[in-house]
Amino acid sequence: MALLHILRYPDARLHKVAAPVTVFDDGLKQLVADMAESMYAAPGIGLAATQVDVHKQVIVVDVSERRDSLIVLVNPEIVESHGVSDIEEGCLSVPTVYDTVPRAERVKVRAYDQNGTPFTLEAQGLLSVCLQHEMDHLRGKVFVEYLSQLKQQRVRAKLAKQLKKSA
Ligand code: NI
Repeated sequence: MALLHILRYPDARLHKVAAPVTVFDDGLKQLVADMAESMYAAPGIGLAATQVDVHKQVIVVDVSERRDSLIVLVNPEIVESHGVSDIEEGCLSVPTVYDTVPRAERVKVRAYDQNGTPFTLEAQGLLSVCLQHEMDHLRGKVFVEYLSQLKQQRVRAKLAKQLKKSA
């Protein structure tokens, strides 16, 4: 297994649209294992392949407190959504920035696991928001892009400052 480099906003590669997975092979299983390891190490509660510069529809999430409930979603699709959520979110690609953006409170998602077995997942609360956030990544959308232009400017300035400090 290996830790993967996580792209930082505003890297243009975060805007690439991920392609559906068509082959469930060892390469996919390796990607999932590396993504999970990278998410836990960060630490984060979700990671999309887009964030590690792999443009395939793969996400990993674990919102459990014990960090023992990994969910792998390949080619995820929202089939139902209800309500409005106001949970604050963050992103490993946008460190230290937290805000609320429009999300459904409950979603029903259809996906495949890393072996190609289809399943349906009904989520609410934090898991629901996390799934919507990660699925946005696969479409090339970062959560801060829902914010006002002014807030986005502040986010970019803050991240540029961080980058300077760490250089
Ligand atoms: Ni994110």
